[in-house]
Amino acid sequence: MAAGAAAARRDPEPGPAGEKRILCVGLVCLDIVSVVEAYPAEDSDTRCVSQRWQRGGNASNSCTVLALLGAPCAFMGSLAPGHAADFVLADLRRYGVDVGHAVWQPGGCLPASVVIASASRGTRTILHAHGNLPDVTAHDFERVDLSQYKWIHWEARNAAEQAAMMRRVERHNRARPPAERVRTSVEVEKPREELLPLMGLGHVVFVSKDVARHFGYQSAPEALWGLRGRVQQGATLICAWAEEGADAVGPDGELVHSDAFPPETLVDTLGAGDTFNAAVIFALSAGRSLQDALTFGCQVAGRKCGIQGFDGII
Ligand code: ADP
Ligand code: FRU
Repeated sequence: MAAGAAAARRDPEPGPAGEKRILCVGLVCLDIVSVVEAYPAEDSDTRCVSQRWQRGGNASNSCTVLALLGAPCAFMGSLAPGHAADFVLADLRRYGVDVGHAVWQPGGCLPASVVIASASRGTRTILHAHGNLPDVTAHDFERVDLSQYKWIHWEARNAAEQAAMMRRVERHNRARPPAERVRTSVEVEKPREELLPLMGLGHVVFVSKDVARHFGYQSAPEALWGLRGRVQQGATLICAWAEEGADAVGPDGELVHSDAFPPETLVDTLGAGDTFNAAVIFALSAGRSLQDALTFGCQVAGRKCGIQGFDGII
């Protein structure tokens, strides 16, 4: 495949019954997950309980969950030729995720994470290699036929380019009646200064507890109270907080909360946040209330925490 070319540059017709798609823009990577009984000591030699290759990356994980929930969805992100890309592409296709906007880059490697998953504690320690792979650009995004999508979600990465993509959607929406507008969301997970302005764009903004703590907040409600001035008027701000569930503040300023739904046994928390985001987007895009969406997000994320990987969350 030529450098810079999309895997198959086209937007397919809407899904069954003319249903529009959900597009997730961000990372796909290879996760090499080693499940261990207990987190190992430095310089020790430990036998794993199990080890597996799994497709990872926030946007890619959210696509998995959307597909499992039955939403027609598409992934947009960068690929670099090699075994890892073959693996992740085949896996995206296996879930029925459209990969027509995956972009093959001329340089860099597909990012990979080594994940140490502790079976006794349910923690996941991630060692991520970026692979010097450039992210998709606003120019790549020009090829997206916006009329095919009802919702576009960005995982905050290359903020300036992503802001340009989001502005393109805003311009598109301005010229359309409400029923034809594309709703947008952005996840600001890493507390990096250059990503923070993205909180001011998008109809729904997800902030992580890492970002909240970066600002000195010790709980989700505290973070929402402190950060809500950063989102645009009429936007919804959501903050998930692991076993404490999640909170959100909607356009009317009302604070809503859902408790977490802890599984019987905590098995694997890798991608819990990506699962939560996908389930919330799924529910909101189907017209459900913010309270319903938050509760659904926590339910699906809780089920994910009780299993290895994603198969079986439904
Ligand atoms: P991540 O660290 O993957 O971004 P979060 O900590 O933000 O995930 O959690 C996202 C959601 O996943 C939470 O709102 C909660 O519903 C669920 N979750 C995460 N960890 C647990 C846990 N230990 N027990 C129950 N639910 C959890
Ligand atoms: C989970 C995840 C993993 C990936 C890592 C990248 O949220 O997307 O699949 O290795 O985060 O930061």
